[in-house]
Amino acid sequence: MKRITLLLSGAIMVLFASMLYAAEPQLEQAIQKGKDLFIHGTFGGNGKTCETCHTAGGTGPGKMPNGKTIPSLSNAAAIFPRFNPRFKKVVTLEDQIRNCIVGAFHGNPPAYGSAKMNDLVSYITSLSQGKPIDMGGKPK
Ligand code: HEC
Repeated sequence: MKRITLLLSGAIMVLFASMLYAAEPQLEQAIQKGKDLFIHGTFGGNGKTCETCHTAGGTGPGKMPNGKTIPSLSNAAAIFPRFNPRFKKVVTLEDQIRNCIVGAFHGNPPAYGSAKMNDLVSYITSLSQGKPIDMGGKPK
């Protein structure tokens, strides 16, 4: 009896998980495209990609070309918007992505609301899935 209950609840969980996934195939596609851009996109710049500094798809501890370590992006989407003392204003995740592309790549950042920007935001936000919103919090 116990075993049947276990089997049944397992089957229900699998069904539920696949329903969740199937409900948002477009979102899953955006996340995948964003990941691809993150790893391979150079945005017309100097050849760097996001992965150059934000290693392991942004999940690992970051490393600048000069060897300096920077936090991972594992909670990045949960801590924006935040105040940026350098720009003396509140910045969003999109602002930060554009800052990295302009500052680190000397490239052309995707426009706000463009498909590429939305794909990048979808990917970076997927890394913070399930983490509590902590606007202005510390990167991990
Ligand atoms: C030359 C290294 C370098 C590259 C390449 C780079 N970044 Fe960054 N990124 C940084 C540094 C350094 C910071 C943290 C300091 C700051 O505020 O500028 C940062 C911060 C971030 C943050 C905020 C992290 C947090 O939790 O506060 C995000 C999001 C981000 N980068 C996304 C990207 C994306 C997306 C790309 C590719 C389009 C990219 N970065 C390319 C160096 C880089």
